[in-house]
Amino acid sequence: MSTNFLEQLRANLGANAVATDPTELQHWGRDWTRAFEPAPLAVVWPRDTAEVAFVVQACSEACVAIVPSGGRTGLAAGAVAARGELVLSLDRLRNVGPVDVLNRSVTVGAGVPNAVLQEALAPHGLWWPVDLASKGSATIGGNLATNAGGLRVLRYGHARNWVLGLEVVLASGEMVRLGGALHKDNSGYALQQLLVGSEGTLGVITAATLALAPLPGPSEVFVVGLRDFDAAARLFGALRSCSVTINAFEALTDLCLTRVVTHTGLPRPLPTCAVYALCDVENPRGLDLAGWLAGLGDLVIDAVVATDRAQAERLWQYRERITESLQPLRLHKNDVAVPVSAMAALAGEVSKWFAAHRPDWQVALFGHVGDGNLHVNALAPQHLSHEAWRAACADADRALYALVATHGGSLSAEHGIGLLKKPYLGLTRDGAEVAQMRAVKRALDPANLLNPGKIFDL
Ligand code: MLT
Ligand code: ZN
Repeated sequence: MSTNFLEQLRANLGANAVATDPTELQHWGRDWTRAFEPAPLAVVWPRDTAEVAFVVQACSEACVAIVPSGGRTGLAAGAVAARGELVLSLDRLRNVGPVDVLNRSVTVGAGVPNAVLQEALAPHGLWWPVDLASKGSATIGGNLATNAGGLRVLRYGHARNWVLGLEVVLASGEMVRLGGALHKDNSGYALQQLLVGSEGTLGVITAATLALAPLPGPSEVFVVGLRDFDAAARLFGALRSCSVTINAFEALTDLCLTRVVTHTGLPRPLPTCAVYALCDVENPRGLDLAGWLAGLGDLVIDAVVATDRAQAERLWQYRERITESLQPLRLHKNDVAVPVSAMAALAGEVSKWFAAHRPDWQVALFGHVGDGNLHVNALAPQHLSHEAWRAACADADRALYALVATHGGSLSAEHGIGLLKKPYLGLTRDGAEVAQMRAVKRALDPANLLNPGKIFDL
């Protein structure tokens, strides 16, 4: 069957639109997670929505499962094809439509990289305020399928806040438009929002009409050395009550900073502290930030305030380059959310748990303090076999999610569930809620062909 099926795809899309070469399969069958071995049937690159519809319909007729694929920068194995699926890459859908400056909207293909969109919008004084460290590779389709968060959620919210309409190919191969270019539309269900964050399980997003924001004004950036996450939370509270608009408030432990310094060759911005906060603020009333920080007494151990744009961009690198600096190591990543008021407590509890139960592991904590989103990156000793490592990570996950649940948190703040967190979904989502998710999935994809096995099993 699969030979005929692939021949049918080649005949209709062209031979260079379908790959079965093992190197290509390895490359396109995975995202940034490394826990699963890719094993796709093939990779296909349709050129437009009609071709996507053709591929999905052919898959539906031949009962071939599909993994929709964007920039594959995800960290929950949502874009991994490990069970003979067809990887449906949206890479060639790169059209950026005209910018409607008055309506503050634009329609773009799913394969447009986030950074390419931002470059196209900048001359109009606009941007799409979903700002990710991986913006060079991450695509708009992927950002929406995973409801991406990133570095500006505190000010602008998640990707779902910035979508007006979607063009989607359903599991049957039918193309539908959900929503449009309207900022106000209360005519029935907002189905486009159902697709956002559905991780490719309900339909294939081929294009999106996005809401845009004015480019942010000039910002001031500073890094503060602190004793712990509790001090970071207190600093955030203090900053919230002064006359600045906070664009981002991020924190990282010294292990993160040390890895970035080693990986990038950047100099340390401050003498060693346990935790650093990186703050990016608009300061329209010209608050003297250095003076304000000095007035916080013991809370601030040390601080550096960027004096120009180049220095501000350099300071941001200590935060933005954490992921790539940790990536070469055998790393177990986690991404959890609690109320902002519980963030410091959770960071303390996680550190204690690892000290007591995994004393020979290193833990790099970082995250979006202003969103209550903690990234827990655990580095296991090298001598563990792959199996022992996976089992130890699973234990650590269960302990972490139990802590998260006591704070009313979520086991995924922004990376999604994918394959990685599927076994634990029920720990922070109610059984009745998951049952409703399954009902929606069955209604839209009765044959379970779209990214099957992601989020939950049917
Ligand atoms: C980040 O905040 O940099 C991203 O979520 C990536 C990561 O967690 O490594
Ligand atoms: Zn993050």
